Amino acid sequence: MIAVSQLDAEGHLQHLLTLEGLPAATLTDLLDHADHYLDAGRQGDKKHSSLLGRTVINLFFEASTRTRTTFELAAKRLSADVLNLQVAASSTSKGETLFDTLKTLEAMQADMFVIRHDASGAAHFFAAHAAPGVAILNAGDGRHAHPTQGLLDLLTVRQRMGRIAGLKVCLVGDILHSRVARSAIHGLRTLGAAEIRVAAPPTLIPAGIDALGVQVFHDVDAALSDVDVVMLLRLQKERMLGAFLPSLGEFHRDYGLTHQRAARLPEHAIVMHPGPINRGVEIEGDMAYGARSVILEQVNNGIAVRMAVMDRILGARS
Ligand code: CP
Repeated sequence: MIAVSQLDAEGHLQHLLTLEGLPAATLTDLLDHADHYLDAGRQGDKKHSSLLGRTVINLFFEASTRTRTTFELAAKRLSADVLNLQVAASSTSKGETLFDTLKTLEAMQADMFVIRHDASGAAHFFAAHAAPGVAILNAGDGRHAHPTQGLLDLLTVRQRMGRIAGLKVCLVGDILHSRVARSAIHGLRTLGAAEIRVAAPPTLIPAGIDALGVQVFHDVDAALSDVDVVMLLRLQKERMLGAFLPSLGEFHRDYGLTHQRAARLPEHAIVMHPGPINRGVEIEGDMAYGARSVILEQVNNGIAVRMAVMDRILGARS
């Protein structure tokens, strides 16, 4: 694979492919910039002009509700021209390669591509082959990374808890298939979380995860003791080729956030989920938007975070 640097020679963001390796100062700047957009929005100032005349192309080869719509809204709120390629109706369905798709759309003077793909490394491939000055944002590639989800999760934690440093965070569920988990872990580590725990059945824990500095639990009740933040992860049934679980009911009993488990959490603990939710599996349905839940705040923060990333890359070049 061709090496791609996310930062230019002066340390400015030029692509966003992963949170791994990004300095704490870069992450903090993006979160602060997202907060600036949230503040402006609260004062009725939703529209900005920093991407006027720029073209952003969304390429979603996998289904999405939250990420695709919030990337589109973010680009429009920065005044960019936005094109959403209908992948199923595009010439990729006739066998056109990713490379030729990139080059064809680049010829239309695109400035930025937002790409979601089921292949880990697809965004990196785009960045490696993009023309100079064309930015690539990873909107989720296979099991690898979902960096803007990681940023919006960090922003939501920081808003609610006032900080990230020193917190105890537990990620519960399908760690094996989760790009969300990897991005959250990298971001939490960089910003100084005290403990990052992962809790799942052995079949849903990837080999070598300890190297990321996390503690592995198979007993979710032990994992949830004293935590500040619970991050529930969706069971990714579409990526499960074999039998990873006896049944969804057993997963809910052994790992789901039931009312009994929620009642044992510290009073201040928040519950997160990137969505989409399998109701009654990762979390009891009536708690999805309950008192501890910040799930809808995560959605709203997705717009501000994506505006911040786009502005820092393209706005800075204007
Ligand atoms: N969290 C997330 O990536 O959701 P979508 O698949 O709906 O974009």
